[in-house]
Amino acid sequence: MKPTANQSVPAPTLLVVGAGRLGAHVAALWQRRFPGGLVLAETRSSTRHPELRAQGLVVRTIADEPPPPVSHLLFSVPPSEISDYRAATLRALSLWNREGRFLFVSSAAVYAEERGGDVHENSAVVLNARTERLLVAEAAVRDVRGMVMRLAGLYDHARGPHRVYFHTAESSLRPDGLINLIHYDDAANLCLAALTLGQPLTTYLGSDQAPLTRTDLVERTRTCGLFGPHELGEPTRFTGQGGPLGKRLDGRWSRHELGQTDLPLPFPKRLLSDPKASSKTPSERPGDLFRSSVLQ
Ligand SMILES: NC(=O)c1ccc[n+]([C@@H]2O[C@H](COP(=O)([O-])OP(=O)(O)OC[C@H]3O[C@@H](n4cnc5c(N)ncnc54)[C@H](OP(=O)(O)O)[C@@H]3O)[C@@H](O)[C@H]2O)c1
Repeated sequence: MKPTANQSVPAPTLLVVGAGRLGAHVAALWQRRFPGGLVLAETRSSTRHPELRAQGLVVRTIADEPPPPVSHLLFSVPPSEISDYRAATLRALSLWNREGRFLFVSSAAVYAEERGGDVHENSAVVLNARTERLLVAEAAVRDVRGMVMRLAGLYDHARGPHRVYFHTAESSLRPDGLINLIHYDDAANLCLAALTLGQPLTTYLGSDQAPLTRTDLVERTRTCGLFGPHELGEPTRFTGQGGPLGKRLDGRWSRHELGQTDLPLPFPKRLLSDPKASSKTPSERPGDLFRSSVLQ
């Protein structure tokens, strides 16, 4: 039954499957956008539940009894975390009642370009051992009119491609290989916009529009003033002379469609503008499938 003019519309419910770094950010933005709305945060373990509960989220693990289907769902689990990624995606789709929006967080690693050219939302993709799980899951999401958000390498003060070369004296990769980035907070804003404004069946692309070469990334990390010599180690020497150059992600269409008119600050300006960066939290994890794939 539709609410009458003097009844208020209840705030929509969001289920975040994979309430990790990005998922928890989106959940916080949703709470701000829809005060009083229910936000369910699903994880694999209960390790981070106290933190998520303190944020006002209703926590659950994948082992719990499934909740009743929700109108809005964000799937934000890296494929490296799950052996049967398609099954996990289908399970998440079964928890969506299709009245609102389903957003699957994917990676720009699926794009085929490797000669340094521009890549847009619908550029050609490559099917290989690294991308197959993502592309299969994306297809399952599109089958039921869900949306896909392909992201560049995510970073913040504690995580990301800029930390991968700490204490790496030598790398066999080429120095001019391109790295595309987006700050976790900017990616979360884009995901919120897709969950509230996005069109079914659409593929969005999230990047800061400022690709860096590996050499530039290392140099800017070393000179930005946020990391001490004990953290950085020796500067990395890149010895590679061939191999893929990478791509230049261009997500301007997505930003425009999702009403995100301000271009994000590039690395490391974005990091320097983040008050959390001054806490200099040590890296929590050296990298996952995406962190390594964006660097190759
Ligand atoms: N990192 C990158 O550079 C990058 C680039 C492009 C796209 N992405 C995509 O961005 C998304 C978010 O990445 P992130 O860095 O925020 O990840 P993250 O911090 O590692 O969080 C992943 C979350 O997923 C949970 N999880 C693991 N297996 C699960 C399952 N079977 N069901 C439900 N939850 C499960 C984990 O639970 P626990 O807390 O219990 O471990 C964790 O909370 C992912 O979809 C990733 O593929 C990442």
